[in-house]
Amino acid sequence: MKIHVFDTSEQLDRFAADLFIDLIKSKPDAVLGLATGSTPVGIYAKIVEQAKQQNISFGGVTTYNLDEYVGLTPDNDQSYAYYMNQHLFSHIDISPERTHLPNGMASDPQAECARYEAMLEERHADIQLLGLGHNGHIGFNEPDSALSAGTHVVKLKNETREANARFFASMDEVPAAAFTMGVGSILKANTILLVVRGAEKASIVKEALTGPVSTQVPASLLQTHPRVIVLLDREAGRMLV
Ligand code: F6R
Repeated sequence: MKIHVFDTSEQLDRFAADLFIDLIKSKPDAVLGLATGSTPVGIYAKIVEQAKQQNISFGGVTTYNLDEYVGLTPDNDQSYAYYMNQHLFSHIDISPERTHLPNGMASDPQAECARYEAMLEERHADIQLLGLGHNGHIGFNEPDSALSAGTHVVKLKNETREANARFFASMDEVPAAAFTMGVGSILKANTILLVVRGAEKASIVKEALTGPVSTQVPASLLQTHPRVIVLLDREAGRMLV
């Protein structure tokens, strides 16, 4: 595990964006595992900026997102499909058919999980971007006595709904469930890029990266992966060392 701590968000975003841009330069048909939330916003902005400046084509790139809310259509501005278009896809030359998210409106959720997992099984991500939840979740894999390996539907914990309520008009509008890749799906990626910002996540960063590997801290499972790169701002990294 390589841990980098940055003085500024700008430096962190630049470093992360360079990893993606360099990958696509060396492997134009790269497979990217992508995340949503507030953490990657600046990274996507830098990727867009660099792609424009360096004339990088995403024409051969395929993407798989970690998760999507159950019950939200792609044109709902709180859906992760909408987020991805807003922050990344609409600004680069990626083909929409190469971008994948679970279908939040699937009428048969179990079949949707199987469909998504089969795609992930066929093509593993070269790099999987992850944020970290306050409770140690990755994707929407919430702390529990057992974790699912593959893509599944998860009932969101109240603390996660509360943390995400800032994006919705009211708490009632925060969906109660989501599709998420499982920890096993995530760990299949060749390289994992975990990005965490902010003092309020400093203690969960420490627990996840240096504490015991436990399903109660899903991100701690990343300790078992051979190629993990962790990018932290000063605040998120302040309890390490
Ligand atoms: C998002 C995701 C979540 C977030 C995590 C952190 O696709 O899977 O695990 O990465 O909840 O969210 P932010 O970045 O908003 O603090």
